[in-house]
Amino acid sequence: MQDPTLNKGTAFTEAERDALGLRGLVPPHVQSQDDQVRRFLINERKRSTDLERYIDLASLQDRNETLYYRVITEFIEEMMPLIYTPTVGLACQQFGQIFRRSHGMYISEKERGGIAKVLCNWSRKDIRIIVVTDGERILGLGDLGANGMGIPIGKLALYTACAGIEPTQCLPVAIDVGTNNQTLLDDPLYLGLHQRRTTGEAYDALIEEFIVAASEAFPKALIQFEDFANHNAFRYLEKYRNRVCTFNDDIQGTASVALAGIYSALRITKGKLRDQRFLFFGAGEAGTGVGELMVTALMADGLTEPEARRACWFIDSKGLVVRSRTDLNEEKRRFAQDQEPTKDTFAIIEAHRPTALIGASGQPGTFSNSVIETTTRFAGRPIIFALSNPTSKAECTAEQAYKWSDGQAIFASGSPFQPVEFNGKRFVPGQGNNAYIFPGIGLGIVASGSRLVTDEMFLTAARTLAALVTEADLEQGRIYPSLKQIREVSLAIAVQVARVAEKSGLAAEKLPEDLESAIKAMMYQPNYVSYV
Ligand code: NAI
Repeated sequence: MQDPTLNKGTAFTEAERDALGLRGLVPPHVQSQDDQVRRFLINERKRSTDLERYIDLASLQDRNETLYYRVITEFIEEMMPLIYTPTVGLACQQFGQIFRRSHGMYISEKERGGIAKVLCNWSRKDIRIIVVTDGERILGLGDLGANGMGIPIGKLALYTACAGIEPTQCLPVAIDVGTNNQTLLDDPLYLGLHQRRTTGEAYDALIEEFIVAASEAFPKALIQFEDFANHNAFRYLEKYRNRVCTFNDDIQGTASVALAGIYSALRITKGKLRDQRFLFFGAGEAGTGVGELMVTALMADGLTEPEARRACWFIDSKGLVVRSRTDLNEEKRRFAQDQEPTKDTFAIIEAHRPTALIGASGQPGTFSNSVIETTTRFAGRPIIFALSNPTSKAECTAEQAYKWSDGQAIFASGSPFQPVEFNGKRFVPGQGNNAYIFPGIGLGIVASGSRLVTDEMFLTAARTLAALVTEADLEQGRIYPSLKQIREVSLAIAVQVARVAEKSGLAAEKLPEDLESAIKAMMYQPNYVSYV
C-alpha cells in the first residue's frame, strides 16, 4: 500500500486483502479502477486552478502509479496541458512551494566525483530512458535551476502515457550546478543549491562524469537532453551523439514535429516542399534545429544544399541573420544569407516572401497583425507556427492568426489553443507538440536496442506522423492527428525508427518479422495486475 508502483488502494480484491494481510487497512467496499478514475476526475475537475490540478496529479502519482497512468493515458487531451506545457511551466516556477515528495534524481555539485556511486542509490536497475535537464532554459521561462525537475518528470510521464514505456524503466534527472536566478537564490524554499551556476570546464566535467556514470549504471538507457541553454545544448549534442544513445528534444524533437506539420499543411495548400520559403523568428535551439531538418527535407525533395539554405531565413534578437554579421554562432552562420543587415521585419518579408512563419523566439507578439497580414498578402495561405512555450510566450494566439489572415492561416502552436470560430467556420489549431515525436522515437530505440539516435530517425518520424493525419483532420485545418490517437502514432513511429536502426546497423539484434505486434506487446498498459 505504501509503494505507488504496487498500490491499488480500494481496488485490492477480497482475495488480495486476505492473502496480503490488508484486512482492515482499506475501506470494505472493493472498487474497480473505473470507480477510482471517476472519483479522481470528479475532484480534479472541481479544482479552481490548473496548478491545483497539477498537484493532485503529482500526489496521485505518489500514491498509486497505475491509476495515475490510467488517468493520463485515457484522458490525454485533458491531462497533457496539466502535466506538460503550459501548466508544468508554472509548476516549475513554484516547485519549491508545491514540493511534496521527491521524484527522480538530483545530481548536484555535491555529488561531483561520486556520481557513479550516487546513481546506485536508484533502486531500479533496468532503466531505458533518462530525461536530464540542468534547468537553465525551462520552456521559454529561463533559468529555474533545480526547479526544472518538473520537466523531466513530465516528459517521462508522457513517455509512459503516449508510448507505453514502463514507468519503472524511466529516470528523471536534474543536474544542479546552481542557478543565476536571483529570485530563487533569495527564496529559502528553493530546492536547489543556493549558489550561482558553475560554468566552463568545471561544468563540462560534471556533465561528462554524469554521462559516463549513467551509461555504465544503465547501459541500455537512452539519454534525452532537455531544456539546456542554447550555448550548451548544441555542444553536447555534437559531443555525445556518436558516443552514447542520446538526443536533444528541443533541437531534434521540435524539428521533427514542425516538419511533420509542414508536410501536413502542404496537403492543404497543395504546395510542394521545395517551393516553400521559410522565415524563422528565433535562431536558437528550436529554430535552427527545425531549420537543419528542413534543409535535409528540402534536399530530399530535390534542392541542393545552398538552395535549401536560401529558402530558410532567420531573424534573431539582432535582426536578419546575414553573412556580414560578426556575432553569429556556428548554428546561425550556416543560415546566414547574402543580404544587407536589417531589423525591419517588413522589408524582410517583402524581400523573402515567406510561405511559412516559424516562431521559436520566446517573444509573445512577434507575429503582429501587420506581420501576419503582409505574409498572407504574398503567400495566400500562410503556414504560421507559433511554437514558443508556454502559452504566454506564443508569438501569436490561434485566434489572432486566423483573424489577421482572414481565415487563411494554417496554424499550429507549441502550447495548446482552443478551436476558434471565425466567419462561421470552425478552425482546430494544431499543437506542434514534441509529444507526437519523442515517445515514439524512445519506444523505437528501446525496441531495437539502437546504439545511437540519428537524424534519419527524426525525418522518418516526421513523415510517419504527417501520414497519419486524415482528410477530415485537414478539413478543419488540423495538421496533427488527434491526441487521442497518440499511442497509435507512437507505435507507428517506433516501428519506423526501429527499422531505421536496423538498416543503419545500430540495432542490438535482428528485429522480429512482425515488428509492429512485437512492439505493441511491449507497451505498458495501466491496468492492475493480480497479486494472488
Ligand atoms: P533559444 O534561447 O535557444 O533561442 C531563442 C532565439 O530567439 C534566439 O535566437 C534569440 O536571438 C531569438 N529572439 C529573441 N528575441 C527575438 C525577437 N524579438 N525576434 C526574433 N527572434 C528573437 O531558445 P529555444 O530553445 O530555441 O526556445 C525558444 C522557444 O521555443 C521557447 O519559448 C521554447 O519553449 C520554444 N520551444 C517550443 C517547442 C515546441 O513547441 N515544440 C520545443 C522547443 C522549444
